[in-house]
Formats: sequence, structure tokens, C-alpha cells
Amino acid sequence: MKTRNRKSPEARIQTPKTKPFKEIVRISASRRAVLQGGLASAAVAFFGIRNQVQGQENVILPLRPGLTDFTALPRDSATGPWPTISEDYEFSILLPWGDPLEPEGPAFAHPPTGADQELQIGIGHDGLWFFPDPDFPEKESSYGLLVINHEFGSNSVVLGKSDPESLDDVRVSQHAHGVSIVGIEKVDGVWTTYATPNARRIHANTPVSFSGPAASHADLQTDNGNTALGTINNCGCGHTPWGTYLTCEENFNLYFGATNETTTWEASESQQRYGFSTNGAGYGWHDYDKRFDLSDSDYENEENRFGWVVEIDPFDPNHVPVKRTALGRLKHESVAVTVGDRRRVVCYMGDDQGDEYLYKFVSADDHVGLVHAGISPFDFGTLYVARFDADNTGRWMELSLLHSQLALRFATMGDLLINTRSAADVVGATEMDRPEWITVAEDDWVYVALTNNSGRDIANAANPQAPNPDGHIIRLRDDHAHTGIEFEWEIFQLASSTHGTEESYGSPDSIWVDPDGRLFIATDGSQEGSMNNQLLVADTVTKDVKRLFAGVTGCEVTGITTTPDRRTMFVNIQHPGNGDIEATDFPRIGDSPVPRDATISIRRKNGGIVGS
Ligand code: FEO
Ligand code: CA
Ligand code: CA
Repeated sequence: MKTRNRKSPEARIQTPKTKPFKEIVRISASRRAVLQGGLASAAVAFFGIRNQVQGQENVILPLRPGLTDFTALPRDSATGPWPTISEDYEFSILLPWGDPLEPEGPAFAHPPTGADQELQIGIGHDGLWFFPDPDFPEKESSYGLLVINHEFGSNSVVLGKSDPESLDDVRVSQHAHGVSIVGIEKVDGVWTTYATPNARRIHANTPVSFSGPAASHADLQTDNGNTALGTINNCGCGHTPWGTYLTCEENFNLYFGATNETTTWEASESQQRYGFSTNGAGYGWHDYDKRFDLSDSDYENEENRFGWVVEIDPFDPNHVPVKRTALGRLKHESVAVTVGDRRRVVCYMGDDQGDEYLYKFVSADDHVGLVHAGISPFDFGTLYVARFDADNTGRWMELSLLHSQLALRFATMGDLLINTRSAADVVGATEMDRPEWITVAEDDWVYVALTNNSGRDIANAANPQAPNPDGHIIRLRDDHAHTGIEFEWEIFQLASSTHGTEESYGSPDSIWVDPDGRLFIATDGSQEGSMNNQLLVADTVTKDVKRLFAGVTGCEVTGITTTPDRRTMFVNIQHPGNGDIEATDFPRIGDSPVPRDATISIRRKNGGIVGS
């Protein structure tokens, strides 16, 4: 085992890179020009491309040589029990559920024991991010830590039975959730794990702490004074300029239930707003672990400890994960972090449920100065929720006690933040079609995947289909380098507009835009025909879409990250076959009665940038 000097987050802090692209765009395309141009984007202006202008016949198509030259995977090939990929690419399977975190750790066995699962990769692979080891800059694209979220795993897959029968069974399930931090390196072209003190699991029973305005609120304390533990339903992710990882707690309500053993439980107004019920999703944790029993008065308020963005320092194995309350309590899908005006840090966040909202947090001050002073930029700032207007403008509405109606309803910011959804209801935010991942492009457009909303019965400008079974992607741009309160927006693409074509896709979920303007789109939902969920690449200027990869029967494709040279991409295959080995035996590693979620790596055969 190598030992190495760990750099503190402060030492690893990076100032924003010079972005000539962005600066030129700002000069060449004023906000007014962009708005008048309708769909013509500032990026188009930068490339000197005349896009469609009203009444003008001759449209010069943008030329972006090398941007997406690969041969698309045909839609007819995007089916079946094994992944398929463009003929110009290849993939390898890495890090299936149950494999040891480190080479000498406990091998996969089904079902795992709770003790083994704590030392193995979790299940329900979702968001992930690659962190190069800062001590080895020469190996930045071949040696580092991969941090992986583990969103969910049904009992039938994890335990091999539909209900837990003991606290030990519950512990297995709890340890399969959370986050894995694992050392990976590329040796002779093959990615493999290495032993490192940084490798660890964070799961439903790992001690956590709280920071920000709600941290010491009474509604985050339980009657028995138990320590705050755990993170669950870790969906999408984010990462910070100071080198930390952010994991997002999404459907946390589904792990709680009520036995009514000590008191009769009825959902409070706050619990109703987050969807708590007597049986959750049927995990049965509450039957053996009273912490998840909503009717156990000793653990009153335990449920308020979930629904947060959680910050983790991957290079400090002793770091206690911190729940950042200033970022609000939602069913957090993902968090896109960028640096705005005066180096304030900005987080774009979605609440993934039908008719929920889009949020933004702006730090109070220059994040570099705050981090150097040992202060989290996430602890002091302003939370906003978005209103989309029909004229393609929008407004970020502040969620604070400065708003008279919010001041009437909430006594403190802590009250407000624990009940963020109810606060957003008051200020008239726009109900969206399930905001999933968000990504910020070099030209400051912010892309938001709205996966679908079959329950929508009234359309609005930003969510124009009612119902919306296939989803869409919108993009918005703030009027003041991410820190202003007004923005412009447009529909980037309705997924249904691709239907009937070779590039057909539906239910966009994970998205990531690379520095060249390739928008990677991973899907989670029904696809036309018998296509599996897939990974596509869109050109953000032409909006052309190409299929790069398709997963297996019953899976979703999720989580997108690359090495710094962008020659390796890592993505996740979640719930292959929905747990049915007859549907797929993915990933064909060892004996298993169930398919296993796994991270895969993707490379272009000619060694080029992934997506090119
Ligand atoms: Fe965890 Fe909304 O996907
Ligand atoms: Ca998702
Ligand atoms: Ca989804």
C-alpha cells in the first residue's frame, strides 16, 4: 500500500480556467441579440455560422469537424441482453456490485453479508465522478479515485427475497446503498482497482454532520438524541472547484414506514409534501431498524435528516460527510456546480418528481477566499427557485425570509430549508416535468433534462406537452454570469421530435456537456420500439444527435464522467434486467443468480476524445 501526502481541499483549490470561448461569446452576442435570434445561440455566433433567420432561404449548416464523426450505433442494434456500442468504440466492464473495493477485499457472494457489503461496491450505480490523484499529475488520466453513487437495490436482488427477516438482512440492504470511493488505475490499457487508504464505503449507517442555516434546528434532532447517520438513495452527483464530491439524496421517503407499535402515525403536512407513507417502497427497514419507523417517537424527525446535498472529501478517509442545508431539502437529483460573477459558486439543482421545481444556490462571496478561510461557500448564500415565463425569459425567486409571505409562514431559515418544497410553492415557481440532471456549458448555457411527466394535464411554455411521456431538454442562461435573477431560456429538444428517426430517444436523464459542446444524453425510460436505454451525443449547435452506446434489457444508463484527457468515459448500467437473470446475465462475471449493476469504461478505438 502506497502512502502519499494528501493535499488539503484548500491546497487543491483551482481558480476558474481562462475561457476564451466564453469571453468571445460574451462580446459577440449580447443578451438582446441572443433573444432576438430566437433559437440562434451565442455559440453559433462564435463559430461564425449563420443559422436559420426568419425569411431567409439559404441556411449555412454549421461545420464542426471532428465533433461527432463517429459511426452511430444503429437503432436496430440497440436491443438485447448485452450492451452494444458504435463500431468506432469499445467498452469494458469495471466495478460490478459486490466486487471488493480493494483487490484483497471480500469477493462477491450472493446474498452478501452485511460485513462484506461494507467492503464491497454497492448496488444501483448512478452518479459518478473521476478525481485524478493530485499527487500524481503526470498520471491524471490513468490514476485516481472513482466515486460512485448507489441509488437503490430491491430486496429481491440484494437479499434474494422480497422482505428482510432480520436486522442483519436490513444491514445488508443499508450497506448496499450510499457511495463507494475506489482507487482505479489504467495498467496496460486496462482499468483495475488498487489498494488505497482512501477506498471506503459511505452508507446508510455512516456518521454524518450538518452545516448551514438548518444545522442545529430542533427538527433535525430526535428525542433520543441519536447521532445523525447515513445517506440514502444517492442519485446524481456534482463536484466542486475545491476537489470535493457532492452526492444527492433523492427518493429518501421510500425507506421509511410506520409500524404503529408505539404511536399511531399519520403523515404531517410536511411529511405529506415529501411523500412519506406507511410502507414506503417496501424495503421493510422500519420493521427491524426503528430509526426508519415513522411511528417510533424516539426517532421523531429522523426523516428530516434526509433530502440533502452531501459533501464528501474523497481524499480524506476520515472526513465526515456534511449535509449542506443551505442547498435546500428536496428529492435532489443532481447538482451542477459552476463559478459565477466575482468567483461566487453557483449550484443548479432539480427536484425529481412530476410538477416539482428547478433551484439555484449562489454563494454569498468569492468561493476561493471562503475556502481559504475554512468557510464552506455552501453555508452562506441565497437559494432561488425558477419561474419560466412564456416569452422565453424567466426569474429566479429568492427563498428567504425577505419575502413577506415566507416570513409569515416560516419562523427561521432553518424552518424554510427543511420544508423547501413548501416554500417554493408559496412564491409561484413553475412546475416542471421532473428535473433530472443539469450541466453547464462553456458558453454559460445551462442544460436541464426534464425526463417525462405522464401526470401533466396542463401544459406551460417550458413544459409544452401534456402529458409528456418522453421528456425534453431545455437550456437557460442567466443574465449575470450565473448570479443574476433573470434568465433567458429555450427548448433545446423535445425527445418526441426524434421519434420515427434513426436518432430516436426518450426520457433523457443523466446529461453532461463537454468543453467542446458535445451534450451526452443518457436515458432512463421507455424508448421507441424495443430499444434499450442508451447514451447519445448531441451537438449543442446543430442539435444533431447520434447514438453512441446502448445498455441491456431492463436497465437504465446513468452517470457520466471522463478522465481529464477525455479518452476514457465511465458510465453506469443500473438495474440490468430489472433483476431478472432470464432477461440478461450482465455483466457475466462470476456466478450470480441475479444480474449485477456495474460501471463500464468506454474508449474510442483510435484513442480519440470520447464523443468525437
Ligand atoms: Fe434517481 Fe431521478 O433519478
Ligand atoms: Ca436519474
Ligand atoms: Ca430517471
